Amino acid sequence: MKDLTPARDSLDPIEIASRDEISALQLDRLKWSLRHAYDNVPFYRKSFDAAGVHPDDLHSLSDLAKFPFTVKTDLRDNYPFGMFAVPREQVARIHASSGTTGQPTVVGYTKTDLENWGSVVARSLRAAGLKPGDMLHNAYGYGLFTGGLGIHLGADALGLSTVPISGGMTPRQVRLIEDFKPNGITVTPSYALSILDEYARQGIDPRQSSLDVGIFGAEPWTNAMRLEIEQAFDMHAVDIYGLSEIMGPGVSCECIETKDGLHIWEDHFYPEIINPETGQPVVDGEKGELVFTSLTKEAFPIIRYRTRDLTRLLAGTARTMRRMEKVTGRSDDMIILRGVNVFPTQIEEALMSIPGLAPHFQIELTKPDRMDQMRVLCECADASLSAELRASSAAALSAQIKQTVGISVKIDVADAGTVPRSEGKAVRIIDKRPKA
Ligand code: DLL
Repeated sequence: MKDLTPARDSLDPIEIASRDEISALQLDRLKWSLRHAYDNVPFYRKSFDAAGVHPDDLHSLSDLAKFPFTVKTDLRDNYPFGMFAVPREQVARIHASSGTTGQPTVVGYTKTDLENWGSVVARSLRAAGLKPGDMLHNAYGYGLFTGGLGIHLGADALGLSTVPISGGMTPRQVRLIEDFKPNGITVTPSYALSILDEYARQGIDPRQSSLDVGIFGAEPWTNAMRLEIEQAFDMHAVDIYGLSEIMGPGVSCECIETKDGLHIWEDHFYPEIINPETGQPVVDGEKGELVFTSLTKEAFPIIRYRTRDLTRLLAGTARTMRRMEKVTGRSDDMIILRGVNVFPTQIEEALMSIPGLAPHFQIELTKPDRMDQMRVLCECADASLSAELRASSAAALSAQIKQTVGISVKIDVADAGTVPRSEGKAVRIIDKRPKA
């Protein structure tokens, strides 16, 4: 794999500024952001007043803990534009999350917000090893989802040649990678695996493709999956994180030279980790729920938003800005199976350690006889895998899950190609348990 480390002088100075400089900037911007939210969004005025706090009460960064949280239902309750802090006419772009349950959550951006978003995504793409003039195959979905258009903004800001292919039509994805010869691809890790399948179907060696780096996010994925993708394509695989409520992709991103967690662009997004049960902030290094406050957003300021993503904060390495560890999962996706907490990423990790099994899987939950049961549906990597080898792979996976996660699950190893494929975010959990 090529060394794609960006030149030090190509970075934004703030990426490698001293911690004191970063904190001073954060404090200034945090004061502005709290005041902006309080003055212009009735929801924040009400929630700050109810908690007995005022923007003037913030004297240091740690004072932020006095302010109330914002949660997803607050956004839904103010559907569609109630959380906007500027007149609707100044909103240059609207995005929304699909919202599998209930109302979609709607977010807005002024022209300046779009510029800031473009600059943090450009920073992310550069951190991942791309440079002006490179070509990017952008297979995140275009539309209300922030993935496609958010990456596109950053690619324009960095000066890339962008192929806005969006998700889907997988044979054409392979065709255009082969014909256009991009340096980078942006796509969900699960859809990257579908593209990999298509390479095999067309009898083309993905290791011979032009791709030097893939920038994967929008869903949890493990370091084991990283290795799998890096080996399959002979390219780097870098993690990018974000959520529409905070901005979209580009809230944080790994640096290619270290690949050791995602540097948070702390000049725009202030992170905290809280204990999800008590709501109390925990110290850096301790695991909990990630909470973000926007520092510069005009149209849609967001104060102490509970992401439900579980991770921890770590000191910076390749940059002075702090890192977040790869997200283990969302608290919503945590399965409690007979008292044991289980995340799909743990199943992924175990699955990737078993030779003969493909990296595709789904988890089915049922409740026969009032006991929760989990079945992992996976498939053999190779159509010619004999019945005995399938059975022994299933037994090996079951043992691995028992040993690492501590639960007994049923494993079904199906024919290659039978686990449903993703064109965006993978659906990992099929919950067939009766609703309480
Ligand atoms: O998924 C934004 C995005 C697009 C990020 C493209 C990266 C690349 P939402 O649809 O609002 O936004 O979903 C946000 O997805 O709270 C996490 O649970 C999950 N997520 C996003 N990136 C990662 C990641 C986009 N790198 C939700 N690792 C977040 C793990 C991720 N989970």
